[in-house]
Amino acid sequence: MPQPNVTPASPAPIDLVIHGGTVVNSDSRRKATVLVDRGRITGLLDPSVPLPPHTRAIDASGRYVIPGGVDPHCHIGQTLGAYTALDNYERASVAALWGGTTTMIDFAIPGSPGASPLTEAAQRREAATQSRCDTALHGCIVSWDDSGSEQVHQLAGLGVRTIKMFTTYSGRVMANASTILEVMRALKSVDGIAYIHAEHDHIIRDAQHSAAERGAIGAGGHAGTRPLVAETAAVNEVLSVAEYLDAPVYFVHQTTPEAVDLVRAARHRGVRAYTETCPHYLYLDESVYLGEHPERFVCSPPIRPAATVAALRRRALTGDIDTIGSDNCCYTTEQKLDRRDDVTEMPNGLPGVETRMPVAFTQLVAADGLSLERFVALFAANPARLNGLPGKGVVAAGADADLVIFDPAEPRTVSIDRLHMATDYTPYEGRELVGWPQHVISGGRVVLDEAGFHDPGPVGRRLHSQPLAGQLLT
Ligand code: URP
Ligand code: ZN
Ligand code: ZN
Repeated sequence: MPQPNVTPASPAPIDLVIHGGTVVNSDSRRKATVLVDRGRITGLLDPSVPLPPHTRAIDASGRYVIPGGVDPHCHIGQTLGAYTALDNYERASVAALWGGTTTMIDFAIPGSPGASPLTEAAQRREAATQSRCDTALHGCIVSWDDSGSEQVHQLAGLGVRTIKMFTTYSGRVMANASTILEVMRALKSVDGIAYIHAEHDHIIRDAQHSAAERGAIGAGGHAGTRPLVAETAAVNEVLSVAEYLDAPVYFVHQTTPEAVDLVRAARHRGVRAYTETCPHYLYLDESVYLGEHPERFVCSPPIRPAATVAALRRRALTGDIDTIGSDNCCYTTEQKLDRRDDVTEMPNGLPGVETRMPVAFTQLVAADGLSLERFVALFAANPARLNGLPGKGVVAAGADADLVIFDPAEPRTVSIDRLHMATDYTPYEGRELVGWPQHVISGGRVVLDEAGFHDPGPVGRRLHSQPLAGQLLT
């Protein structure tokens, strides 16, 4: 019997192929075609294999393809003291995507000492429904009481298992030593990690008092009000508590080689301790406080002397820094100027969610020679692992299709007119940087390409973090 002539059905086209580029992960690089379908990476093919049927192709020849950035330290619409930063999840996520960050982790910091960490976290989880990219959240506990353990468990129920505590800002958000110990203990029972802002409050208050007496409490005197040793002292104390409890601890925005070395030494003793730094602590030095606009650089800890910055960069090259977070705070020039005469009153923090990639890349890779693999570790892979976000920070089959394509040789001069954060200045105005994303793919959607930005709408998913259930760094 003659058989009917049936043509086999051709496979359905996949959403996207990215061909010709070099795929770089934190542990490898290779030329490969990346296949993307329904929000996921479905495979990596050898470049010699013909492209499967596809709806869209991006030619990444001569360029790198890296995982979308995971920003572990991002304040969105943050209220600290009398000032509220002007961004929201929509603005912050659009700026993040322009800058190659496809996952932002915000902080739920209670606006006043008595406010509930849970209410703040629940409100931020709600606000995050407007995000254009995926988000996660850190909690913040200011004081421990009988409800503390229950609060930690309820935060975990919201998917929040990383809790920030401040060792400074007394009277506002500072947690005392006993609160830090109790929260660290409770976090162990939910597979969580304490995030610590480490500056010794008594030293800082004394330095501020002396600066005020000298008439140096304005923005130009900021560095003198928060000495390096304040950071060393606080890191030392918290590390001892972590060691005593056998609890993991992550130090946000470390700025000094001494502080980083304390963490490294503790790690060698078996303490699960981790170091984050920020682009501004690697790229700028304290001469910024001598310029015309010192208020633009007021952040805590402050920008450090050039020799300290150089030593911190060496720590990045030797692998002693684990992550780079932006510590994004979008206050405006008007807000920064309002109490420029008194750093104890003015809003702290710098805008940076959009410039995290080019500032860190320019300094560490282009200038200092850090490997691209190590850059990917700092920018995406390690923040994903330490925050327990599977599917993030890696270009591999099965991972989320969050990708950045860039040409490391393409320079751009920074201008606030070309940035998208909800502020009117950038600490990097006029600087020439490399490492700008050219294409950004978020959840499989091409949100940035040669035609510009394509707003995907409020599609960001609210991720649950589970640090200790994942693979911590060793
Ligand atoms: O100056 C800073 N870093 N402001 C933001 C809040 C914080 O301490 O992380
Ligand atoms: Zn902090
Ligand atoms: Zn911060």
